[in-house]
Amino acid sequence: MNKVVVGAQWGDEGKAKITDLLAQNADLIIRYQGGCNAGHTVVAHNKTFKFHLIPSGILYKGKTCFIGAGTVILPEYFEEEIQGLIKEGIDVSGLKINPLASITMPYHTEVDGYSENTATKGKIGTTKKGIGPTYTDKMARIGLKVQDLYSPELSEKLDIILPLKNKTLKEVYGLKTYTKEEVLALCKKYAEIFKPYVCFDWQKVLEDAKRDKKAILFEGAQGVMLDIDYGTYPFVTSSNPIGGGAATGSGYGPAMIDEVIGVAKAYVTRVGEGPFVTELTDKTGDKIREIGHEYGVTTGRARRCGWFDAVIMKYAVLVGGLTSIALTKIDVFDTFDEIKVCTAYKDTRNGEIYTSYPTDVFIHKYLEPVYETHKGWGQDITGITEYGKLPENAKKYLARLEELLEVPISIVSVGPDREQTIFK
Ligand code: GDP
Ligand code: IMO
Ligand code: MG
Repeated sequence: MNKVVVGAQWGDEGKAKITDLLAQNADLIIRYQGGCNAGHTVVAHNKTFKFHLIPSGILYKGKTCFIGAGTVILPEYFEEEIQGLIKEGIDVSGLKINPLASITMPYHTEVDGYSENTATKGKIGTTKKGIGPTYTDKMARIGLKVQDLYSPELSEKLDIILPLKNKTLKEVYGLKTYTKEEVLALCKKYAEIFKPYVCFDWQKVLEDAKRDKKAILFEGAQGVMLDIDYGTYPFVTSSNPIGGGAATGSGYGPAMIDEVIGVAKAYVTRVGEGPFVTELTDKTGDKIREIGHEYGVTTGRARRCGWFDAVIMKYAVLVGGLTSIALTKIDVFDTFDEIKVCTAYKDTRNGEIYTSYPTDVFIHKYLEPVYETHKGWGQDITGITEYGKLPENAKKYLARLEELLEVPISIVSVGPDREQTIFK
């Protein structure tokens, strides 16, 4: 069975924990989109590992871990991540980079930083890792791919890219321009960084895995609501975290996918700007943040917290192509008397009720959540590993979410550790 792990909310749902669990039974793990904007935490062997770009499957020996064609790579950050893993004694020999992955150049991070620092209205709150500008150049067909670093035609390619790039850097942003010599020197450095990992025969590796019916795990970053096409645009990232993204970013098509597991928290968090209808700016929000340790892995920013939102989740099931849900962090509610679930939005201008997700995010400021309230279970569930042993109120809560979302909850996570997991 080939599975995709997709974030079902605004990222940080606990995807890495679920990917790590599923990676045990996978042979080939492919990260299909995003870059080092991601921050993925895995707790294993009493250690906490933080990943940005490298698939967390690398923690298991003998797995092939691909950084797929749909990703963007910031070379210096990649090197730092690799060195960190090597220092921890992790064998990184299974890591491979698809030569079609895109490269984040210094001018991309500079433009990202500039746009964020100077925005007054419409600030996105990006991770400033150059993600948007790198994908912009890829789509504009003036990006650099990993394979270009080793091409004898690199100089010719730069003659096409650089005049355009420098004109925008100077005239639009008032930023530093780059000489061809500078860029060639950077490319030489990057070629060395990637050399041990670039897999020029990636087609053969993928073909062999397909023929031999190897178990493939597609690893997503970010989440459906940050998807460039379906998320809370423009407050999104610049790639396709949805299940369909696995079919474009990995090198395999959709027929290779058997299951799409959407990872969702029992509540919702968001980092950065953008609408968030169930956001709690009161003490309850603070309580969720403190108990759930809701601070960003990549930027350290405090995550905005709110109640579970079945409206966005139903939407995520549809557009994300989710076939089941892994519900994480349900233990965060162990001390809560009441737990709310948003089942619809009410438009404060005219009383209209939305049960489907309204995609024009500029009207979200007029929306308020319609909640139903569930009783808490008032006990520590972090040691429970069997569904039947969960308190009745927790089971009722899970059953209600399944009813609302119309997909099964196949995994329930009750703590960060590998062991703190219930397979239903
Ligand atoms: P990702 O980006 O989706 O992989 O998620 P992050 O790693 O950014 O954030 C999820 C955080 O929640 C990490 O610190 C995890 O160790 C932690 N975590 C994952 N699952 C659970 C859970 O079921 N309960 C609790 N309390 N923490 C969890
Ligand atoms: P993981 O994989 C949460 C958010 C940023 C910002 C928006 C655009 O750990 O779930 P970008 O730097 O991508 O251009 O920023 O997307 N964002 C994330 N939020 N988790 C992530 O990754 C994120 N990656 C990007 O905060 O709002
Ligand atoms: Mg994260």
